[in-house]
Amino acid sequence: MKDIKAKIYSNNKVGPAYYKMHLDASYIARIVKPGQFVEIRCSDSSEPLLRRPFSIHKVKRGIEILYEVVGKGTEVLSKKKDGEFVDVLGPLGNGFILPGTSNLEPRAIIIAGGIGAAPLVYLAEELKKNKIKTIVLIGAKTRSLILCEKDFKKAAPEVYVSTDDGTYGCKGFVSKLFHKILKTTESKFETIVYVCGPHGMLRCIADICLERNFECQVSLEEKMACGIGACLGCVVKTKSGSKLACKDGPVFNASELIW
Ligand SMILES: Cc1cc2nc3c(=O)[nH]c(=O)nc-3n(C[C@H](O)[C@H](O)[C@H](O)COP(=O)(O)OP(=O)(O)OC[C@H]3O[C@@H](n4cnc5c(N)ncnc54)[C@H](O)[C@@H]3O)c2cc1C
Ligand code: FES
Repeated sequence: MKDIKAKIYSNNKVGPAYYKMHLDASYIARIVKPGQFVEIRCSDSSEPLLRRPFSIHKVKRGIEILYEVVGKGTEVLSKKKDGEFVDVLGPLGNGFILPGTSNLEPRAIIIAGGIGAAPLVYLAEELKKNKIKTIVLIGAKTRSLILCEKDFKKAAPEVYVSTDDGTYGCKGFVSKLFHKILKTTESKFETIVYVCGPHGMLRCIADICLERNFECQVSLEEKMACGIGACLGCVVKTKSGSKLACKDGPVFNASELIW
């Protein structure tokens, strides 16, 4: 992990409250794994003081983050201009584990809820490089909030969308779409599910996976402060005791978590 001053190549609005920031961070780009994150100092002043965590969205001539403006830190970040510099600490945490060798052919199912799509595009690209058959399910409240559909389509042959209000794709929660897809797809594969999104959705997907005996890796976007295991501000309860989301995660095996 390194603390670098990264030049902002670009910082553009890509949705109602969504932005993409492309950073010159070749050191991080060289070693980062899907699911890992960086801590960014959003402001040059003391407000907000603490860095904010963001997943790696893409690796291309540096790194890209995809973020939603929800408060002070992300608001300040969204105002940054091309050519300015930000402090970036990373890569941090433990990312997703790609399918290993098994008797059955592996199949990955990626499930993205809202801004939870951010770390999953890089994962989908890596799965493609590794020739793993991948299905992607994207869930959002409404059509204008669907993220990364084009990027996922470049990486995976099958991409399905659901919206809570039915304005695009299947109507209802993405967990309903997951049930539907499982009914219509073959089960001759060793299935691994990768999921990131709101807590309730993670839990629901984890339950479906447990019932079916699928491995399920969840990325937990807990509130974090230091991001390096020093402040104990991101404790997660697991069957093997308390863990830190920043150091032991943010990706955990769903069957290990106490929900
Ligand atoms: C490992 C990790 C990776 C993340 N990756 C991304 C990403 O790729 N893109 C992205 O947009 N966001 C990501 N987040 C969430 C992001 O860090 C927060 O949205 C951000 O810190 C909010 O900062 P703020 O100062 O704008 O908001 P604050 O003023 O700190 O908070 C504003 C509101 O957002 C809520 N909030 C703050 N942090 C979180 C959180 N972690 N989860 C849910 N609600 C929160 C607060 O409760 C409050 O209601 C990630 C979080 C973690 C832990
Ligand atoms: S954020 Fe400080 S220990 Fe995890």
